[in-house]
Amino acid sequence: MTLPASPALADLLAPLARELEDLEQWLRESLEEGPEHLQPLLAHAARFRGKRLRAAQVFLVAQACGGIRPEHRIIAGIVELIHAASLMHDDLLDEALERRALDCLHVEWGSHAAVLLGDWVYSRAFAISTTLDDPTCSRVFADASMRVCAGEIHQNLTRGRFHLGQEDYLDQVDGKTAALFEAGGRLAVHYAGGTQEQAEAAAKHGLLAGRAFQMVDDILDLAGDEARVGKSLGTDWARGKMTLPLMRLRDRLSPEVREQMESAFAQGADRSLLFAEPFAKDCEAALAESQQEVESLLDESIEHLRHLPQQDAVETLAALTRYVGSRRR
Ligand code: FPP
Ligand code: MG
Repeated sequence: MTLPASPALADLLAPLARELEDLEQWLRESLEEGPEHLQPLLAHAARFRGKRLRAAQVFLVAQACGGIRPEHRIIAGIVELIHAASLMHDDLLDEALERRALDCLHVEWGSHAAVLLGDWVYSRAFAISTTLDDPTCSRVFADASMRVCAGEIHQNLTRGRFHLGQEDYLDQVDGKTAALFEAGGRLAVHYAGGTQEQAEAAAKHGLLAGRAFQMVDDILDLAGDEARVGKSLGTDWARGKMTLPLMRLRDRLSPEVREQMESAFAQGADRSLLFAEPFAKDCEAALAESQQEVESLLDESIEHLRHLPQQDAVETLAALTRYVGSRRR
């Protein structure tokens, strides 16, 4: 599939440039607090500078509810730390080699170090959350983290299940990815002093946009370019994870061709097989259908933003939400 170009993320995030720079400094300092012997590992982890979409979401929701307060800077930092910790574990579980064009942590330091550093970074995030007087941040992130783990466990338990249904897939995606976006939206409103209705709206926006984010991840895993995305791709198909585009392809095929797909799925074949006969045409159509589902979810998520009080700030958040559908890394 020829994936359309996405707008430059840096342009979209330009209004937050100063906040995001300060966030990088905050993250560096939070990690440097680790003991001496952790420093080489933490330095490696710090080089995986992500897109900071979760932090940007927190800042933009805060602006849409009256402005960024000191608590929002802590929440934005914590959500990025939890996300980073989860990826250390995830890359090990997925046996991925590369993330953000760098060797994964476990590739250089081994699996024990990757598990334990993930635990350390996660614990650091929670220690920081307890510095806030209002315990809502700890409570909401603890709940979201349990959902992240439950979603990931659910996905692992259904590995190799070719006939996975939509409901199971959504449960996995909502847990492993959308729960953190949902928590970020909810907390940003709470710490801006917004109403319960506004918090629900921002949480729903985060949940749906987070779900779409993971669906794009799954589209890229099947059709993306490794050099451009900067991480190991094709791992869902190769490791028996049924994802949205794979389900859509499966459901389009005649019974005979579907059987061929099932046996290739069981063998962990290379993803390129799905772009050749007899799958190629249906694979392109399945990718287009999946992209359509992503766009509908993003429309729905943006609808919820009309409940936030400062609509001028909502515009940037809506543009960032749209970026989720077109991102290519
Ligand atoms: C990426 O999915 C993985 C996640 C979003 C969550 C992973 C969570 C865990 C491993 C549980 C540990 C959790 C905590 C809080 C420490 P993916 O593999 O589909 O995406 P990828 O292509 O970016 O690897
Ligand atoms: Mg992974």
